[in-house]
Amino acid sequence: MKTFLISLFCLLSCYVIAQDITITHGPYLQKVGEHEATIVWTTDNYAVSWVELAPAGDDSFYSEERPQYYQTKDGNRVVSKLHTITIPGLERGTEYRYRIFSKAVMVEQLTYGHVASSNVFKQSPLRFTTLDAGKPEISFVVLNDIHGRVGDLTALSNKVKYGETDLMIFNGDMADDIQNEQQFLSAFMDESVKLFASEVPVFFARGNHETRGLFSRYFSDYFPTNNGKLYYSFRHGPVHFIVLDSGEDKPDSDIEYYGLAQFDSYRSEEQEWLERELQSESLLNAPYKVVIMHIPPAGANWHGALDVRKKFLPLLNKAGITVMFCGDTHRYLYFEPNTVLHNFPILVNAADTSLEVKVTQNEMSVKRKDVAGKELNSFIYHPVKK
Ligand SMILES: [Fe+2]
Repeated sequence: MKTFLISLFCLLSCYVIAQDITITHGPYLQKVGEHEATIVWTTDNYAVSWVELAPAGDDSFYSEERPQYYQTKDGNRVVSKLHTITIPGLERGTEYRYRIFSKAVMVEQLTYGHVASSNVFKQSPLRFTTLDAGKPEISFVVLNDIHGRVGDLTALSNKVKYGETDLMIFNGDMADDIQNEQQFLSAFMDESVKLFASEVPVFFARGNHETRGLFSRYFSDYFPTNNGKLYYSFRHGPVHFIVLDSGEDKPDSDIEYYGLAQFDSYRSEEQEWLERELQSESLLNAPYKVVIMHIPPAGANWHGALDVRKKFLPLLNKAGITVMFCGDTHRYLYFEPNTVLHNFPILVNAADTSLEVKVTQNEMSVKRKDVAGKELNSFIYHPVKK
């Protein structure tokens, strides 16, 4: 009997120690800046996670011990199923290699299980490059209103690759709504990770559909930004990007929101931020100033569009904006600059087309392409004269 109990105890403890773990989504890059980058992924069990980092190079990742980065809170390493690890102290415009690891933690007993990782043995380490305001030429792609149509996402981004495309911009409504992690991330992010998002940074402008669903409250946990808000700015090469959150499309009291929406005051708070942002040194010195916002402030008369028109356009009209990219309508629209509403062009991308943008010191070229890669329109913009 004693032997049996010892064997049973052994079996149980072996089971506890062997707690398994799998990476369920990611890794993908977020809030990449000149001196930091954040890697995000999820696991099916609680884990303590870390990123190992190495400079670019042909040497083996195992040639020396590499620094490990953890997410911490109040002095403790975070144990979670969502892993958001920021690597500080990086050099501008520099390539790095990275690998990710998650060690299962049985939170009730605080015992450890297996380790899940990026494919450290068979696959080369993943890579990323930090942003660089001094980079003379950059390229990026804009997608919006995918609404979980993974086939379109694949067709529109199959040329997005590390080393060829600097950034990917998701301009809202990538999912229909956000009910839970699995439904949300499998709507577009799993395919993005497969294609590019582990190595090409994604910058997200929230769409009105990403404000919907119970799990939408956690959107910013999965897509963190450099200022903790869903409106933010960043600089890469000659372009200063302003990412705005246009919020919901109907009045806050609409029955669709069940009394939970408060976007009028949110957009007013954002207006105050924008006023300060437009005085930033980076924006004032940038040859190109590009605004990313989901709901176009022209051509529509729903409340959300009218509110962003009233609150943001008077400020943007004083800032020498090169172009604003929008989505939401699912069809292509182009609004020329005018003296009444907006003194810069507004390009509304369709749901099934991409914008491929290349920027040099002399010009910004934008090509709108369909799922077959056929060019539908092209535009040239020039840098702001100082
Ligand atoms: Fe939308």
